[in-house]
Amino acid sequence: MSIVVTGATGALGRLVIEELLKRTAPDEIVSVARDRAKAAGLAARGIGVEIADYSRPETLQGAFASGDRVLFISGNEAGRRLTQHRAVIDAAREAGVALLAYTSVLGGPSATFSIAEEHVATEQALLASGVPYCLLRNGWYHENYTGTLAATLRTGAVVGSAGEGRVATAARRDYAEAAAVVLTGSGHENTVYELSGDTAWTMAEYAAEVSRQTGRQIPYRDLPQERYVALMVEAGVPALGAQMVADADAGIARGELAATPGELSGLLGRPTTPLAEAITEALKELPV
Ligand SMILES: NC(=O)c1ccc[n+]([C@@H]2O[C@H](COP(=O)([O-])OP(=O)(O)OC[C@H]3O[C@@H](n4cnc5c(N)ncnc54)[C@H](OP(=O)(O)O)[C@@H]3O)[C@@H](O)[C@H]2O)c1
Repeated sequence: MSIVVTGATGALGRLVIEELLKRTAPDEIVSVARDRAKAAGLAARGIGVEIADYSRPETLQGAFASGDRVLFISGNEAGRRLTQHRAVIDAAREAGVALLAYTSVLGGPSATFSIAEEHVATEQALLASGVPYCLLRNGWYHENYTGTLAATLRTGAVVGSAGEGRVATAARRDYAEAAAVVLTGSGHENTVYELSGDTAWTMAEYAAEVSRQTGRQIPYRDLPQERYVALMVEAGVPALGAQMVADADAGIARGELAATPGELSGLLGRPTTPLAEAITEALKELPV
């Protein structure tokens, strides 16, 4: 019986492992990764490593054991995820895991933008499987925005298609800590958590905070969806990814990522990380 984290070599997975190590011993943890070399650092710290690929169901046999408490981190290959996710759920069911916590999307079925589709279908597959579940319906990360601060400062504007919609972001680390709380706690079976930051902000408010912290005038430029897609493609973002990001912005404009029920801070036992703090941290990381 272990605590298992899939997607353990990704950005969220690595943070979850750090949070688990604050709460439990390394030999209680198993990381599931598709690339052994990427997982070498985890193995060196005494964490178990299982090599498995969501796209190759045979590799998932043996990734889980009876009684495991598993964090299933959603894949990042849009369009292929439902088939992949079904394979993970099947393997978890066959192994008889005690809990399968899945990183879904804030709002679940009420999120109508395209990124949400595979999450909603995965939720349905998980519920139909009979495996004890926990839906961690994660809202957007601060890092979705602060991760492009260098480009924002270079071009002198925040761009998007979110209009005056609000988005309740939290730090990726906040979501990671909440996952660790669920994995190491009790009573989370067959529950749904709507996880989001304590404060929902508009893109114009984000641009104003970037302006305040940098001492520059950085406006928010709202673009029609097609124009925003074209701009991202010009900057090197693959077309499908660009369309999905712009479509999610349309969802933000409709208010679909704005909910602030306080369930993330409730699990953490503290407020979520303020956006202003994430901007400060990201600015420190930029080359001067
Ligand atoms: N809430 C948000 O704002 C937000 C933003 C971005 C993404 N997401 C979603 O949340 C997930 C976690 O976020 P993140 O920041 O950690 O993303 P990430 O760094 O891209 O991590 C995704 C993880 O999934 C693993 N993975 C992908 N396809 C796989 C496959 N076929 N078999 C096995 N493992 C596979 C990756 O393995 P490798 O390490 O080998 O690449 C990686 O570890 C993402 O995958 C995406 O579904 C949410």
